Amino acid sequence: MHLIKLNAIDSTNSYLRKRYLDGDLQDFTVVSAAEQTSGRGQMGTVWESDPGKNLMLSVFKKIDCLAIEQQFYVSMASSLAVLKTLKKKQIPSLSVKWPNDILSDNRKICGVLIESIIRKQKLDAIIVGIGLNVNQTTFNKNFPASSLKNLTGVNYNLDEVLHDLLEEVKHYVSLLVESKLDEISQEYHQHLFRKEKPSTFKDQNDNLIMGFIKGVSNSGRLQVLLEDEVLKEFDMKEIKLMY
Ligand code: BTN
Repeated sequence: MHLIKLNAIDSTNSYLRKRYLDGDLQDFTVVSAAEQTSGRGQMGTVWESDPGKNLMLSVFKKIDCLAIEQQFYVSMASSLAVLKTLKKKQIPSLSVKWPNDILSDNRKICGVLIESIIRKQKLDAIIVGIGLNVNQTTFNKNFPASSLKNLTGVNYNLDEVLHDLLEEVKHYVSLLVESKLDEISQEYHQHLFRKEKPSTFKDQNDNLIMGFIKGVSNSGRLQVLLEDEVLKEFDMKEIKLMY
């Protein structure tokens, strides 16, 4: 693993993609930044984070063991790496909200942005962007977010948290490389937020849908048992869990 630490950058994900396109990137390069000027979130959103208080990093990993349809295993492995790191720090009530937000109780403490690089119709590499709220204590009131410091009262050493997280990243990357995909999926499902619980969702037209989360398919679609007992699969654009 090769670690690059930056003070400020537009986005660590964009930085790695540019270097990849320039042909100037070693496999398993990690870049972290104290500040992002254009941090990106899922589905075109903006990722905001107070400078110097949180972890913002991206991991570039060549992938030759997964088909394009199997890339959700990278997403599962990435959220598990974060979850395991936080579990070891005794952060309470951790879960993974589909597809890959890390929650403590109902509050989001980490977001993950996965971007794939496809070459000759094959999955060539993955960029995993991780934004972990560590020492920031105030958040936009309209969204249920929190940080490690808010949850435990501890002011964390960011380098130590980064080191511990990267150890878990190495472990979960090794599971991917060894094709231990069932193991990854099982562990992901053990921690899936609101699994088997009655839940409310909003569809693209703002209609409310009730159902039970049954799991996530290998391709990353959420499986919901609807009121009429029909099991339906949704992708990220189609449905939003209200919580
Ligand atoms: C989400 O919307 O939940 C995903 C947020 C991902 C944020 C991280 S911060 C490091 C990396 N660089 C980015 O621009 N985004 C990801």
